[in-house]
Amino acid sequence: MPRSQPLSLFAVTAPGLEALAARELNALGIVATPEDGGAVWQGTPEQLYAANLRLRTASRVIARVGEFRARTFFELERHARTLPWQHFVTPGRAVRLRVTCRKSKLYHEGAVAERMLAAIEHRVGALGATEAEKWSDDEEEGTDAQLFIVRFLHDRCTVSADTSGALLTYRGYRQALAKAPLRENLAAAVLLASGWTGQAPLVDPMCGAGTIPIEAALIARRIVPGLAGPGGEPRRYAFREWPGFDRALWTGVVQRAAAEILPAAGVPIHASDRDAGAIEAARGNAERAGVLPDLQLAARPLSAIEPPPGVGWLVSNPPYGVRVGESEALRNLYAALGRVARGKLPGWTVVLLSAERSLESQVKVRFTEALRTRNGGIPVRVVVGQVPETVSASGRPRA
Ligand SMILES: C[S@@+](CC[C@H](N)C(=O)[O-])C[C@H]1O[C@@H](n2cnc3c(N)ncnc32)[C@H](O)[C@@H]1O
Repeated sequence: MPRSQPLSLFAVTAPGLEALAARELNALGIVATPEDGGAVWQGTPEQLYAANLRLRTASRVIARVGEFRARTFFELERHARTLPWQHFVTPGRAVRLRVTCRKSKLYHEGAVAERMLAAIEHRVGALGATEAEKWSDDEEEGTDAQLFIVRFLHDRCTVSADTSGALLTYRGYRQALAKAPLRENLAAAVLLASGWTGQAPLVDPMCGAGTIPIEAALIARRIVPGLAGPGGEPRRYAFREWPGFDRALWTGVVQRAAAEILPAAGVPIHASDRDAGAIEAARGNAERAGVLPDLQLAARPLSAIEPPPGVGWLVSNPPYGVRVGESEALRNLYAALGRVARGKLPGWTVVLLSAERSLESQVKVRFTEALRTRNGGIPVRVVVGQVPETVSASGRPRA
């Protein structure tokens, strides 16, 4: 694929993260617009490489292969054979197809997938293993197959090629998990939506496997997600297997990102949890991400945190209950969080990923909503509040 050839690109995000991904792209000098489910732009292969390497909040980047109208299988076959499949697959490569058909004459997803695979083979030659699957991006660590996404809506067929491979969520550092881990791109979204830029101290007193503080350290050190895996080597991406992959261009994109990395975070980042096992998991993950020296890790309960000097940000993803009988304990935990904030963190910004307003209200900090999305199917929001500079023992700001 020539370097100058414009590609129609879409950074896929979880619902609610579209504007953040567009903002990240804009910061790279890319004019992208948020749309339902992601951010769209016309870009060059260089931008495609950079987006995959650098986007913190997106799940994957897809490239448009083509678009056409078809109401019969004959029309489908005729158009599908003219698509430039050869830019995205080499002969013998394994291919996966995800087909969804809505409000269209052609509604049989399996039959559409069969015609598409035949069209690819017609254009490219024999493929390796092929597979048609139902749409699902849950817990997907990727396979070696090239994924194509085929969508029929009102008889219009849109075909896109996945450019990422494994979801961008998986940076490669997180191999140890604690309870209810947060996806890496959601942890980054919590930080970016809150306005934390890596310039102020940060504390996560319920850090679990450390996803928020690790993503914070990556932001502070300007380590892009694609270089946050073991050994700092760029991870695999689907586009690296494409016939026109431009190795020299890619090397330049990687080298520029690597050159931006700062030697240290520059601000203290404290991560603690009452569960010693979680802290061990966080330690291993931070080490693989290359940011262990940037974190102060400690196994201790929320009430015992020792915040760094200065005014900073408490950013956390406290537990939220789904099981009956948990609510009383959780109310107490959120109330304790409020007491700790007022007692030890005057003037600090508090950022919570929260699923229940009734729990948030226990903190007794005035919160505003910065983001609304879903975590593991549960609607959640990111709320941001300010701990008053001086507070009375009752928790009310002093007059
Ligand atoms: C939802 S998990 C956090 C997950 C984390 N963001 C991650 O990505 O792994 C909540 C964490 O709060 C911790 N926790 C609950 N009560 C606590 C307390 N009183 N003090 C400190 N940690 C607590 C739990 O051990 C658990 O690891």
